[in-house]
Amino acid sequence: MRSVSIIGAGQTAFGEHWNESFRDLIGKAGLMALESSGIEGKTIQAIYGGTMASGRFVGQEHIGALIADELGLTPLPATRLEAACASGGVALRNAYISVASGLYDVVAVGGVEKMTEISVEEAGFALGGAGDQETELFHGATFPALYALLARKHMEAFGTTEEQMAQVAVKNHYNAMFNPNAQFHREITIQDVMNSGYVASPLKLLDCSPISDGAATVILCETSKAKKISENAIEILASTQASDSLALTGRKSLTELMATKVAAKLDFEEAHLKPSDIDLAEVHDCFTIAEILAIEDLGFFKKGDGGKATEKGKTSLKGEIPINPSGGLKACGHPVGATGIKQAVEMFFQLNGLAKERQVKDAKIGLTHNVGGSGATAVVHIFKKAQVK
Ligand code: COA
Repeated sequence: MRSVSIIGAGQTAFGEHWNESFRDLIGKAGLMALESSGIEGKTIQAIYGGTMASGRFVGQEHIGALIADELGLTPLPATRLEAACASGGVALRNAYISVASGLYDVVAVGGVEKMTEISVEEAGFALGGAGDQETELFHGATFPALYALLARKHMEAFGTTEEQMAQVAVKNHYNAMFNPNAQFHREITIQDVMNSGYVASPLKLLDCSPISDGAATVILCETSKAKKISENAIEILASTQASDSLALTGRKSLTELMATKVAAKLDFEEAHLKPSDIDLAEVHDCFTIAEILAIEDLGFFKKGDGGKATEKGKTSLKGEIPINPSGGLKACGHPVGATGIKQAVEMFFQLNGLAKERQVKDAKIGLTHNVGGSGATAVVHIFKKAQVK
């Protein structure tokens, strides 16, 4: 397998985009990534696009071809990948494999979703398709309800509190204040979270990621070429993916996401690194409990200690291991198909020292973690600044 690097990155602002279409968003992120890499469109050899439910959200399928068309890159091969909220991460991994295998030298990989065209109720139903339609969604178990079950189990097993979960939201809203592409630029307090209405007890409105529109793109290139093209190349040291039962009823444990644990273990082995080598991570905090599960399952903290570590500030921008400097899904926003790519965009900024006020000091090695559904897919990537020759 060859080494692969990211040479350019682009992201639209996440939020409600009433004046821009699905096409506009992915086109804009694609052009920004090309501009950032300094290469011309004709250098690209293939396109990968992640989107979860564009058919339900905007009535549009056939996204691979749409991206090639919008960017004027036909007749390049262009492929859509879908893995619920991990669609972006899975697209990144497949694009990575296509370059690592030697098939292509330079490819573009984007993620996009436009979720605000339909009502929040309809969006909740569309998102519910990421779980098991027959045993969960049909009976009314939407995503806030499924993660509420995981939260209850964690509280029962380890004494995790609603305030500790609230601290995840407080931290991520704070970080998002420094991210111009974030959906929310509003500082919140633990009391604000505690006073927001229950969506599915114990999760309240401010424990949830929002409904969002947005797109993100990165350009991948074989590393020896990448170093010649861009001084900003960041190398992908490892890319792994794992799966688990679609429904929560199939899980051995509800206090961990097994797919995250497996993908992380393989990722650290592939990169010859351990959790303590990581300087920062962008993890999948679709709900505040999800960040607590992630920082434990990725090995940053012992099982059961995630809530306490968060409470003590260990995951803040200046903490032991800064988690979600972008604001995460919670406050940067979660246009589902775009999230896995946005995490890679944030790594590109952070590892190149371009993240301004939210810059993690001395960031050299970063990890991204993208989850589909309630943990049925997990994708983990590790990045480091490529040595410039
Ligand atoms: N975090 C912070 N603020 C939020 C928010 C969130 N998640 N969701 C909405 N808001 C804000 C809105 O900006 C709005 O503020 P304003 O009055 O100042 O404009 C206010 O809260 C009400 O917004 P509204 O759109 O009416 O909220 P809602 O009640 O319809 O939707 C949720 C709230 C939590 C139900 C919705 O965001 C949701 O379904 N989130 C989960 C998405 C999900 O499941 N994703 C997949 C994860 S696997």
